Amino acid sequence: MKRILDACCGGKMFYFDKHDKSVLFQDIRKIDTTLCDGRKFSVDPDVLADFKSMPYPDGTFRMVVFDPPHLKYTGSKKEAENWQMVKYGWLPAHGWKDVLRRGFAECFRVLQDGGFLIFKWNETDIKVSEILALTPYKPVFGHISGKRSNTHWICFTKDDAHLERTLFDP
Ligand SMILES: C[S@@+](CC[C@H](N)C(=O)[O-])C[C@H]1O[C@@H](n2cnc3c(N)ncnc32)[C@H](O)[C@@H]1O
Repeated sequence: MKRILDACCGGKMFYFDKHDKSVLFQDIRKIDTTLCDGRKFSVDPDVLADFKSMPYPDGTFRMVVFDPPHLKYTGSKKEAENWQMVKYGWLPAHGWKDVLRRGFAECFRVLQDGGFLIFKWNETDIKVSEILALTPYKPVFGHISGKRSNTHWICFTKDDAHLERTLFDP
């Protein structure tokens, strides 16, 4: 039984081994395409599923990796053809908070007590502070990286000591 879940693995860009046997790779799509600059790109998950409603019992995984889309899509053709949207997926411009709130809730549901959730976020469209308000869990630590320093890596753990915030729904 694989004890690490990647809830939306995309192209598995940050893996040392894209076939790591400890990781269950999940995504909502499977594609094999060529990006506008000629690079090949594929999404090839073990499981096709939605992170808002995952097909695993409570407490299944020791670690969950959650790197959801960070770009908002308003519906234009230009946006749809943007290579970043093809590569990273997208969030609905209206309703993105609900998507991520449900995604976080599912990630914590399938995580075992004392397990870790590794969350990655890029602040291109939405500030990380807005995202952290979508889960009642308080992060343990985080790190900012990337060429423009707008990518956040954040570690959560599932325990009562970190479950101390009330969800605010503006
Ligand atoms: C930022 S990319 C992940 C990149 C990946 N971590 C990597 O290293 O290449 C986000 C992924 O989330 C997937 N996705 C979007 N909505 C989803 C959903 N509701 N359930 C599961 N996966 C979803 C997209 O298909 C996309 O591949």
